[in-house]
Amino acid sequence: MSKYFPQPKTIKINSDVELIAFQCQDTVVQLASIPPGATFELHRHPESQIGMQIAGRLEFNLNGTKEILEPFGQVYVAGSNVLHGSKNPFSETALAFDVKRITNSEEAEEAILKVSPTQDEITGFECQSVVGSWFEIVITKIPPKGIIPIRQSGNETMGIILNARLTIAVEEQQQNLKYGSVYYAPANALYGGHNPSDETVSVIEILIKPRSNFSFKDAFLKTDVVRSLTTS
Ligand SMILES: [Fe+2]
Repeated sequence: MSKYFPQPKTIKINSDVELIAFQCQDTVVQLASIPPGATFELHRHPESQIGMQIAGRLEFNLNGTKEILEPFGQVYVAGSNVLHGSKNPFSETALAFDVKRITNSEEAEEAILKVSPTQDEITGFECQSVVGSWFEIVITKIPPKGIIPIRQSGNETMGIILNARLTIAVEEQQQNLKYGSVYYAPANALYGGHNPSDETVSVIEILIKPRSNFSFKDAFLKTDVVRSLTTS
């Protein structure tokens, strides 16, 4: 099995809700389909979780605060052990993705972040993006026959194909991925691709900032403490 193209695993949450989970090294990307009337009970876990709507709306409960999440409108951030859950009081099935990961962040983060329109600096493709404490999410529209130039990032990158097909190469492996597939490019891996179809293909990319950002901050704080102890 390729680590760059993880296989889906189905997880049954309750009689209404099923998740499709993709393990990307120590991060899990999940796709959820939540039918009208279904509830995802309040729960908590040591992993930080972020997520966004792909289609339909959900009433999201973040530690007691309720917010209606719109498709590609907001990203919720539920830090380690922060209560969260959702329900679908609407008449349309809600499709969402979420990402779970141990972040070792000391703050119990709770946030609803707004998504902003932008443009890919290299290709000029239309994008939407949002930046959080340990991640960035970029949704890109790749035009028919459009090329994603080969790139190398210090961030780990996970991509979700939302429609049609997209050809993605990570290092020496290439696959023609259909909608609902996930690819994974580890930090510093070379990856790129192209849209072989005659329609615009949307892809969600989740970029995970390197952990060294956190350890650098920690080291900085510790240095400060040491300095204040030695000068007082
Ligand atoms: Fe959760």
